[in-house]
Amino acid sequence: MKPINVGLLGFGTVGTGTAKVMIENGALIESRVGVPLVLKKIADLDTTTDRGVAIGPGVLTADAGGILNDPEIDIVIELIGGYEPARTFVLQAISNKKNVVTANKALLARHGNEIFAAAAKEGVEIAFEASVGGGIPLIHSIKEGLVANHVKTLLGILNGTANYILTRMADEGTSFEKALKEAQEKGYAEADPTFDVEGIDTAHKLAILIALSFGMPIELDAVHTEGISEITPFDMEFSRRFGYRIKLLAIAKDTADGVEARVHPTMIPAASMLANVKGSFNALRINGDMVGDILLYGRGAGMMPTGSAIVSDLVDVARNILHDAVGRVPAIGCQPEAVCDRRVKSVDELQTQYYFRFTAVDSPGVLSKIAGVLGAHGISVESVQQKGRVAKGNVPIVMITHEAREADVRKALTEIDNLPIVHGKTMLIRIEGEGD
Ligand code: HSE
Repeated sequence: MKPINVGLLGFGTVGTGTAKVMIENGALIESRVGVPLVLKKIADLDTTTDRGVAIGPGVLTADAGGILNDPEIDIVIELIGGYEPARTFVLQAISNKKNVVTANKALLARHGNEIFAAAAKEGVEIAFEASVGGGIPLIHSIKEGLVANHVKTLLGILNGTANYILTRMADEGTSFEKALKEAQEKGYAEADPTFDVEGIDTAHKLAILIALSFGMPIELDAVHTEGISEITPFDMEFSRRFGYRIKLLAIAKDTADGVEARVHPTMIPAASMLANVKGSFNALRINGDMVGDILLYGRGAGMMPTGSAIVSDLVDVARNILHDAVGRVPAIGCQPEAVCDRRVKSVDELQTQYYFRFTAVDSPGVLSKIAGVLGAHGISVESVQQKGRVAKGNVPIVMITHEAREADVRKALTEIDNLPIVHGKTMLIRIEGEGD
């Protein structure tokens, strides 16, 4: 039987990992597919750097068009990243009837609906296992392993850089800046680390998972997104005292009156499994109506884990090509005509517990003034702590509330932040009490 020919666009870290997996495990992969997967061409602007991988002479080129228009190439892997020229290349590959594998979560989160529709129209596959959770098979698990379930809840740690930073801050008292620098040196971070620390990369990934889990279009702008750059070592210490850890969590819930979709720093019980996902590791806890809870854990970034996910997609697509079954599993998991719009709830509708850190003058009566405003908005306090005393100046006062409505919380904090005894913006961290 004819080999399956693959063209790779982008020969950076993940591209190199993909080539290594294809070469090092080539015999194993052939034994599983039935024919060899051949890396016929690789296009990158840098054609001189030695990536330490044994590709044949003439494989590396600067000409992406040579791949997109090569009639012998069956599958194009897009690892350029970003929106353009990645979008143009992917759409061009699809219109040339080529199957596409991509790791590009930003592209799919923004243009996925268009790309999925184009692939369905042309009768080709678009596979994207590596776009969320690096080497952890999250996409296959949702689309295939959990196909018999209504997914009810997703709780995920989906950005290794942010998790590395929060872990270093919690365990070593490291500053945010130093931990970010370390994560960048280890190669976890995006080209623009703002995407990692401001929750944008996590939101891209959550938007994709929500579409697959709830059978709806990708709606990136509906994901409420906050990052971790304002978390201080002080918040870390207090979360520990209250029995929590702070994680940048991706949260999605399918509720009777709409879908919750949010990414923000979250306090979760210290004993929960997600709270103990450390360093650059990722994890996703999924609740399905039939299966109950499952937890998938592993490396969410890096050359070889992401290469592993890319090659798993290649194998899937190759098997479908060989069995004349392209399109067997729809890109979004359910049949295109079954995809339906869902209302995404505003964060104002959220009901949860909150952690507040107020910065206020240290004098008698301050606490009762703050508690008075909270009480007037129907917000009940579960516990309060103040660390130390100062004769002059401000002290941090920390509170945990009972369950409250976010719209009320926001009104109360606006009033509190305008009190003359309060200096600086109050820090708010939402608490996700559901244990695992
Ligand atoms: N920057 C991402 C992370 C890499 O830190 O998890 C993979 O998406």
